[in-house]
Amino acid sequence: MSICVRRMLWDDIAQVRGIDLNCFPTMVPPTNYETEFVNPMAYYLVAYDKDIAPPEDISGRKSQKVLGFIGLWYMASEMHIINLAVHPDYRLLGVGELLLICGIGLSMELKAILMTLEVRLSNLAAQALYAKYGFSERGVRRAYYLDNSEDAGIMTLDNMYTPEYKAALHALKIRYLQTWKKSAEDTSFIVDMGCNAAE
Ligand SMILES: CC(C)(COP(=O)(O)OP(=O)(O)OC[C@H]1O[C@@H](n2cnc3c(N)ncnc32)[C@H](O)[C@@H]1OP(=O)(O)O)[C@@H](O)C(=O)NCCC(=O)NCCS
Repeated sequence: MSICVRRMLWDDIAQVRGIDLNCFPTMVPPTNYETEFVNPMAYYLVAYDKDIAPPEDISGRKSQKVLGFIGLWYMASEMHIINLAVHPDYRLLGVGELLLICGIGLSMELKAILMTLEVRLSNLAAQALYAKYGFSERGVRRAYYLDNSEDAGIMTLDNMYTPEYKAALHALKIRYLQTWKKSAEDTSFIVDMGCNAAE
């Protein structure tokens, strides 16, 4: 696979919505991605595979095959991860991790003072991913999820600019590249995000 990440384009919305509905079928109300696209505080990044032939929509336009996405809101100098989802056919291939790496890079580029999110207490896969990148548990929102009244764990990363975290992040990126990309110098997978998140 040859996974790349870039800002979500208007033509990606149908695929992003499809992944969202698959991953979060009980979300009420479902996210309105047309509104999010023009929301000045929202940043949506999509992962795609350069080697997968793009689907063709009914108008004959070709778009890239979206494997997953991350949605972030930047407000009051804090970056909130609104959603992170990978198509079920492309899980455990490093897609979610790359999206999170790029989300952290974007947050640092924008000089966010922290990153934070809510995650279902039962969602151990997502918690493991966030913990791997230094997010720690900071509390619980009781009955946060409307479908089954499940509690949400609050996970936050607020030491992004310490030398220790920067070194740990660098090591994680190198390990990621060695695992999935082979060349530790290769940053060509991060494209067109309006920031130099490869740093
Ligand atoms: C959570 C999710 C985004 C992970 O994406 P992914 O592309 O499959 O994950 P990756 O292959 O990049 O894995 C990276 C890390 O995530 C964690 N992880 C991912 N899947 C895991 C699983 N099934 N069990 C435990 N840890 C898991 C691990 O820490 C892993 O690192 P490792 O390989 O060193 O163990 C994906 O499972 C998903 O879309 N889930 C449904 C939507 C969701 O729950 N989103 C989170 C909302 S807060």
